[in-house]
Amino acid sequence: MKNRRIPLIAMLAAISAAAVFSGCGGNEKNMTAAGASKEEEELVVSDTHSDDGKEIVGIAMPSVNLERWNRDGAFLQSQFEAAGYEVIKEHADDLIDDQIADIRGMIAANVDLLIIAPVDGSSLTKVLKEAEAAAIPVISYDRLLRDSPYVDYYVSFDNYRVGTLQGEFIRDALDLEHAGGESYNIEITAGDPVDNNARYFYNGMYDVIAPYLEKGTLVVPSGQTDFYTTATSSWSTDLAEERFSGILNSYYAGNKQLSAAICSNDSTALGVTRAITDNYRGGNEVLITGQDADEENLKNLLDGRQTMTVYKALSNETVVTLALGKAIMSGQTPGEDLIEASDFGFACAYDTESYDNGEITVPSYLLEPVVITKDNVDEELVDTGYYSYDEQGYLRAN
Ligand code: BGC
Repeated sequence: MKNRRIPLIAMLAAISAAAVFSGCGGNEKNMTAAGASKEEEELVVSDTHSDDGKEIVGIAMPSVNLERWNRDGAFLQSQFEAAGYEVIKEHADDLIDDQIADIRGMIAANVDLLIIAPVDGSSLTKVLKEAEAAAIPVISYDRLLRDSPYVDYYVSFDNYRVGTLQGEFIRDALDLEHAGGESYNIEITAGDPVDNNARYFYNGMYDVIAPYLEKGTLVVPSGQTDFYTTATSSWSTDLAEERFSGILNSYYAGNKQLSAAICSNDSTALGVTRAITDNYRGGNEVLITGQDADEENLKNLLDGRQTMTVYKALSNETVVTLALGKAIMSGQTPGEDLIEASDFGFACAYDTESYDNGEITVPSYLLEPVVITKDNVDEELVDTGYYSYDEQGYLRAN
């Protein structure tokens, strides 16, 4: 574990809180006094947590409501446990205060590493400072922790690429390059504005469709195109359905046609699909995009109600997180070398430029997303072992 300079008072508070919370004795701290004023004395704390054999990993997931975070949490927990670590895992129910309480509990339990997928990337500044004061390294998982210098690494997918894949899919499916004088109606459903990823997805998608909007090859009858107007709080299926039903009722009266509904992820795609099933009278098959390969969306994909999803292999994301976590806890400062040393067997890039969190540029390990359609679902999801068919012929994540 790396050495950090921390205020004495914060350190003592963390130690006594840890003793109260966890009741685990024997956590002797190896401290060296390093300078002096009474209240602001600083200590260099080294190897603060490794004394009782097992190191503890705190995993703070944002939600219990969305399928992917349950899978992330389960993968992370089983992989760290199999590697010999103790795990404390919490899901925050999409509530910021819940997550802050979860992380405070982990700090008090004297964890050796925090892995955090934030509900709101900007709401953890204070608690991250507390983690820093307790010398706990932090991995920002999938969603970027913003507005704090105390974020050691970021593990995610290339989030902008997720959006470009969605935009390119619509561009190619409608063959916009050869549209002649034809124009197509589309509507956009973006993600949660407090999730840093949502804007990357939106920007990636928008950059692809913008030239066609300018030319009039694509038209948005609702006029709702900017990020905030199209955003969906908490990535909620119900809110997406409600908004989209409103759009269909207001702008697609009669049998006016909608060609594509670009949705940032599967939970919003589910709501939009329901709205289209119940309220759309245009008669054509609407192209619907998504992300995550959630089981219910894969059912819709097989049944022809959703056209594509972007798959992000969560198990690979957790494999990178495990390798990184192990390296950090064994005192290394990994960089590009982690990828070579780990021989992951899937694409992973080390990026030190793209993810500025408002305070620092967070060194990132980024994986590659893949487009899934009815045509390649077996090859990409089943043959690779990520999913299997159940008795009803639907796909279940392994
Ligand atoms: C994740 C997506 C997910 C969304 C809602 C984003 O931060 O990257 O995979 O669909 O959150 O949970």
